[in-house]
Amino acid sequence: MNANKIKAYDSYNFGFSYDLSDQHLKHLIKLFQTPSKTADSVLGGRRSVLIDEIDDIGSVAVKYYHRGGFVRHLIKKRYLKWGKTRCQIEYEILNKVRHLGINVPEPIAYAYRGIPFYKAWLVTRAVKQHQTLALLSLKDAKKAFSLMEKIVAYVSVLIQNKIFHVDLHPGNVLVDQYFRIFLIDFDKAHFSCMDKDKLINKYINRWQRAIVKHGLPEMLWKILNTELRKAVK
Ligand SMILES: Nc1ncnc2c1ncn2[C@@H]1O[C@H](COP(=O)(O)OP(=O)(O)O)[C@@H](O)[C@H]1O
Ligand SMILES: [Mg+2]
Repeated sequence: MNANKIKAYDSYNFGFSYDLSDQHLKHLIKLFQTPSKTADSVLGGRRSVLIDEIDDIGSVAVKYYHRGGFVRHLIKKRYLKWGKTRCQIEYEILNKVRHLGINVPEPIAYAYRGIPFYKAWLVTRAVKQHQTLALLSLKDAKKAFSLMEKIVAYVSVLIQNKIFHVDLHPGNVLVDQYFRIFLIDFDKAHFSCMDKDKLINKYINRWQRAIVKHGLPEMLWKILNTELRKAVK
């Protein structure tokens, strides 16, 4: 399900499938305007995601898309090609994969302002008290390994549906206090016409690169490598 409501409000363009009042939109705009730090780390995730409580909705996570000089041009190019902003693309793919039964944070809204060099935000339901799988694997490797079955199942569904996440690594898997897992960061995800074997290798290679780079337990990679090949038919 894509955003079935589109609304321009105070120079922001919103898309949402939720019942959001002007009051809600005002609150979100305030969050968009709150300065945020960026501290990228695969282990902990970046800090530029703001968490706040919104009336009637609950706890939400607001992600701001950063763009450097060159990236700005790529983003413009992508916008001109697809006619869609990054936030809308991520919002729609989250809805799509949710309907395939993959656990991702519930998309609530997207917003952007200024075309073609736009600023963009994505609002999802916050995953409370989470850590990344990367961090968990360093603290409790056994527990992390036990979650791999679910991850393999999710990645297998993505591959069956020809969806390439592009950046799936243990830092983009959130684990909540009940050890439920959430795949996140579908910013660059897209449908791919690559054949399944190629896609499997792409997923495994991306995952492995992060394991090596951040010194995570090798077993995290070994499990994905063997089980994913078995799971995708
Ligand atoms: N729905 C959410 N609930 C709670 N925290 C979130 C949510 N989405 C993202 N985050 C936090 O923000 C971090 C970065 O989010 P991500 O989508 O991976 O953006 P980036 O493109 O910066 O990597 C995550 O590691 C997580 O800590
Ligand atoms: Mg990320």
